[in-house]
Amino acid sequence: MERTPLLAGNWKMFTTVAEATELARAIAAKPLPAGRQAMLAPSAPALHAVGNILRDTGIILASQNICWEEKGAFTGELSPLMLEEAGATMAIIGHSERRQIFAESNSLINKRLLGALKFGITPILCIGETLTERESNDTKSILEKQLRQGLAGAKIKTGNQLTIAYEPVWAIGTGQTASAAQAQDVHAFCRLLLADIFDKAIAQQIRILYGGSVNPANIDELMAQTDVDGALVGGAALKAESFLRIIHFETL
Ligand code: 13P
Repeated sequence: MERTPLLAGNWKMFTTVAEATELARAIAAKPLPAGRQAMLAPSAPALHAVGNILRDTGIILASQNICWEEKGAFTGELSPLMLEEAGATMAIIGHSERRQIFAESNSLINKRLLGALKFGITPILCIGETLTERESNDTKSILEKQLRQGLAGAKIKTGNQLTIAYEPVWAIGTGQTASAAQAQDVHAFCRLLLADIFDKAIAQQIRILYGGSVNPANIDELMAQTDVDGALVGGAALKAESFLRIIHFETL
């Protein structure tokens, strides 16, 4: 079963709307390589402007968060209907910055994920261990908890309805990437868990992205791993040239 590689940029709380527009235009100016998908997740104020640029380019628009209700008294939250209106078809959920800085729990993240599925927006569920957890050999138990609790009650018919991003917290924004072997080991473990949570056929279809200091110099080796189906890129997605090199990774 072939999974289409997905190269995704998470712009976090960077770029003004003007800068986001310019960056999106520069990225969209180069045609996507055949058999690959790219995605951009600008900050919420830039979603409409970037969505207008991405229309008909084949590049996916994503939000960096999503609420489970379509409207109501939820100050500061992002309605799935409003995201859809901007053209977003995917949403990042449970990023480690949401978990750590904004204290989002697995159960809150689960609500967001079920909400996204209900509205037909594909969640990118982020999971990852801290350095302390890795050093105390807790990586797999932490990831298992994040996956099982984050996906509780999720019903999907095909693996295309869900994407997972493994982002070790110690590798985010630090320049210290997980080695390709470390990433492969964790991704294979996650796929086994997904087979248990859903079934084997669905687990084979779900894309598992790697994130954490991905850059033009390490993307080729990461993408050469059997279970690495793409990348969720922070810093290196903020420059058109480096993100384009990531989209155009070389097959080893
Ligand atoms: P960096 O690529 O800057 O390490 O960020 C990764 C990330 O958090 C993407 O969601």
